[in-house]
Amino acid sequence: MSEPLHLTNDPQTLATLRGVLRAANFTPEGVLNTIGVADSAAIKESDVLLLLHRTKNGTPLETLIRLFLMEVSVDLHSLEHAIAPMTIAEWREMGLIETEGTQARAAMKLLPFQDMVIAYDPPARLLTAEGEDYVMGVAGSSITLATMTISQQSKATLDLGTGCGIQGFMAARHSDRVVAVDRNPRAVAIANFNARLNGIANLECREGDLFQPVDGMTFDLIISNPPFVISPESRYIYRDSGMAGDEVCRRIVREAPRFLNPGGFCQILCNWAEFANQDWRERLEGWFAGSGCDVWVMRNQSRDVATYAATWLRHTEKLETENLDERFAEWLEYYRESGIERVGGGVITMRRNGSGSGWFRADDGIETMYGPGGECILAGFSAQDFLEKADDAGLLDASFSLSPDARLVRQMIPSGNEWIDEVTELHLARGVSHRGNIDPYMERLLIGCDGTRPLKVLAGEMSESLGVGPEKLEPELCRMVRHLVARGYLLLPSG
Ligand SMILES: C[S@@+](CC[C@H](N)C(=O)[O-])C[C@H]1O[C@@H](n2cnc3c(N)ncnc32)[C@H](O)[C@@H]1O
Repeated sequence: MSEPLHLTNDPQTLATLRGVLRAANFTPEGVLNTIGVADSAAIKESDVLLLLHRTKNGTPLETLIRLFLMEVSVDLHSLEHAIAPMTIAEWREMGLIETEGTQARAAMKLLPFQDMVIAYDPPARLLTAEGEDYVMGVAGSSITLATMTISQQSKATLDLGTGCGIQGFMAARHSDRVVAVDRNPRAVAIANFNARLNGIANLECREGDLFQPVDGMTFDLIISNPPFVISPESRYIYRDSGMAGDEVCRRIVREAPRFLNPGGFCQILCNWAEFANQDWRERLEGWFAGSGCDVWVMRNQSRDVATYAATWLRHTEKLETENLDERFAEWLEYYRESGIERVGGGVITMRRNGSGSGWFRADDGIETMYGPGGECILAGFSAQDFLEKADDAGLLDASFSLSPDARLVRQMIPSGNEWIDEVTELHLARGVSHRGNIDPYMERLLIGCDGTRPLKVLAGEMSESLGVGPEKLEPELCRMVRHLVARGYLLLPSG
């Protein structure tokens, strides 16, 4: 482990720091207007030449962008001007910067994110001997989970494996109280600092292993982006759980029900092992046996082990890292010995229903997950509850309506002297969407669902115009409706 951090918790110093960052307009809008970059966490070394040009006037904001977002040295004179009334010595003592001669470099990354500024470790730290307790920032996985988080009001929320605190901070907006847990003391210190810097008073950080720091407590919402990477290594706390295979994810979903209030949700971003002779759905379903939860697994990726290993090794290592090829071979050998063929990933949402068995649903091929994913997940739970109970007669009596977010995309090709359909695709413009081909019957069914006519009436009209008897058409339409309701294209009857 590395040296303890000296990030301050002194309210006066934090208020002054907040004032300095605000006065410079160190915000996503300020950054966008100055350098034209919307996702400042994604700035790469190759962007630096252009961005040096765009920050050449030496304003306080430009100096902070260079220091914290481009991660280049700035001269002490410009920095002094940018951070007044604070001093270089104060910033150095707080562990925000390191100085050498007339130059300063960021010792901590500061990222303007939404209405917050989030501190975390600079990625370069991963490449040092102190990389093992690296605290990651707002990564792609953080955004995926935050986008999918159910944001209904929660009395008590748990963020398991909080890192810099990002999930907990987002959840604090719709929670009376948040407990943010991490095994890494460095993460707890950083999350604490971030909470205070951003004035988040309803979040408390606790150090410890998984659920141990909240033993005896229950929550309306548990969110977790755990160290889910499946590999033979136990190098980095943020990435490696130290448990075999996908055991960390299995353990969290097995233990979570005990910490959920009735009706409470647990959402976890997962990677899981996929084996040659076993359906991944079957294997995951086994994790939830007797859990007393309804479960919705959304798989959005499944990668062969070589692609998976290469991707994760390149996250932390440079190509020229010594023995990288040997480590890659060790990862592949680990998968071979364990029989793991592929690694699947996605979001798992569980809802405690109190009874011994709940429904289990596993969807594949989620193509897009963008806001408001949490709302879509809640709607998906209601849809699945409805479908679990409804028989075909119930479906035929119901009046469904087409989602306003549905989009039909037609691609046509020339044939002779006319255009003919090559593919017609259906997807949703918002939320969680599976892109899929659709046939003319489904097209007709969808547009006929206006929320007022029962499915039976629609089936009668379609049966007449298609010349197909209702006894043949109705079961087929019910099958389609089940599919379309489950995927959010058709909305449930209101009331
Ligand atoms: C992938 S990072 C996620 C960070 C943050 N929640 C996010 O979404 O960006 C996983 C976090 O889990 C923490 N962690 C690892 N093992 C843990 C354990 N056994 N108990 C609690 N936290 C753990 C790591 O220190 C790290 O901060």
